[in-house]
Amino acid sequence: MKLAARVGRITPSPTLAMTATAKAMAAQGIDVIDFSSGEPDFDTPEPVKAAAEAAIRAGFTKYTPSSGIDDLRQAIIDKFQSEQGLRYEKSQILVSCGAKHSLYNLAEAFLESGDELIIPTPYWVSYADQALLNDATPVFFATDEAAGYAIDPDKLERLVTPRTKAILVNSPGNPTGAVYDWKTLEAIADIALRHQLLIISDEIYEKVLYDGAVHRSIATLSPEVAAQTIIINGVSKAYAMTGWRIGYAAGPKDLVTAMANIQSQSTSNPCSISQKAAVAALRLGGPFTEKMVVEFDRRRKVIVDRLNRIPGVSCRLPGGAFYAFPNIGGVLGRQGPAGPIESPQDVAQYLLKNARVAVVPGEAFGSRTHIRLSYATGMEAIERGIQRIAEAFNNLAA
Ligand SMILES: Cc1ncc(COP(=O)(O)O)c(C=O)c1O
Repeated sequence: MKLAARVGRITPSPTLAMTATAKAMAAQGIDVIDFSSGEPDFDTPEPVKAAAEAAIRAGFTKYTPSSGIDDLRQAIIDKFQSEQGLRYEKSQILVSCGAKHSLYNLAEAFLESGDELIIPTPYWVSYADQALLNDATPVFFATDEAAGYAIDPDKLERLVTPRTKAILVNSPGNPTGAVYDWKTLEAIADIALRHQLLIISDEIYEKVLYDGAVHRSIATLSPEVAAQTIIINGVSKAYAMTGWRIGYAAGPKDLVTAMANIQSQSTSNPCSISQKAAVAALRLGGPFTEKMVVEFDRRRKVIVDRLNRIPGVSCRLPGGAFYAFPNIGGVLGRQGPAGPIESPQDVAQYLLKNARVAVVPGEAFGSRTHIRLSYATGMEAIERGIQRIAEAFNNLAA
C-alpha cells in the first residue's frame, strides 16, 4: 500500500513502545521492573474522580464546545492569573486531548515545508517527529551535560536562519530534568523578539521542581514576550491524570484560533468527563502535587546515588521532572551475550532481556550516551531495579 510520505519520516513513540513491551512481559507473568513510563505512580486524587463520577451521573456525556468547556477554560485562566500573573481571554485558551495533542495542533497550525524549529537536545521524543509530520525541519541545538544542559544563548542564536519560526523551551525538561534560570529565559526571549520567533514553552513539569525552586513562565517576562509565546501544559503529570488526556495551550489569539479550527475538524472536543475532572484538579491547587513531589524527591536522591555507584555510569541530580538520565558511556563497548553493547539501544535491549528492567534508550531523546529511567515508580522498584542493572553491567565482559 502506498502510504503518505510523511509517515515514513517518523517512528512510533519509543517511550510508549518500551512501556508496552514491559506491560506485555508483566502480563506473561515475567517480573519486569518498568522505568520506562513517564507517568506518576500515584492514583488520581479522589475529588477529581468524584467530579468525573458526578459528570457521568449528570449525563455530561455529550459533545462539548470543541475548544473545551467554559468552566475548564475559566479554571485555566484563573490558574495563569493567580500563579503567574498572566492574563488570558477564553479565546486564547484551547483544551486538547493531552499536552501532546496541544503540541500537535500547534505544529499543524504553525509549521510548514521549509520552516525550522529549534529544539535544544536532549529533547522530549515527540517535538521532532511532530515537526517532521508537518513537513518542517527540526534543528537540534546541542547542550552540554557537564554544564547541566544549560543554554548558551550566543550558540543558540547562531542556529537562527531566515527559515527559523520557533524555539522550543521545555523547563523543567524531559529527559534531563534541567531547569533554566531566569537569565537564560531572558536571553532566549531576547533572541525570539529580535528575530520574530514564536516561543513554544512546554511547562508540563512546572509543578515537579525540587530544592525549593519555583516555576516562572518565560511569558511573564513582559507583555511583548507573552504575545510571542504559546504555553503548553496539562493535568497529566501534576495531578496523576495521564490516562484522562487533558492538556491545554495558551497564547496569541490568532494562533490559538487556528489550532482550535484544526481540532474542530480532527478530534472535536476532548472527553467531556475528563474536562469536568480537570476542572476539579485545577481547583485542588497545590497540596496533592506537593505531597507527590516530596516522594519523588526522596526517590530522586536514592536513584541518582545508586546509579552513580555503578562503574561506567554517571548521573546528574535532576532539578525537576521525574527522570534520571544517566550517562552510560562507560558501559558502551563491553561484550554482552549477543555481541558488543554499542549504543543506548543495545543497553536497553540487554537490560530488558537479561535483567528484566525496562529503560528508554537515549536515541529517543537525541543522545547516544544515555538511558532514561523514570523514578515515578515505587522506592522498592528503584532499589531492586538498580541492583539488577548493576549486576547486569557487571556481567558484561570488558
Ligand atoms: C515534556 C513533555 N511534554 C508533553 C508531554 C505530553 O503529556 P500529555 O499528553 O500526557 O499531557 C509529555 C509526556 O510525557 C512530556 O514529557
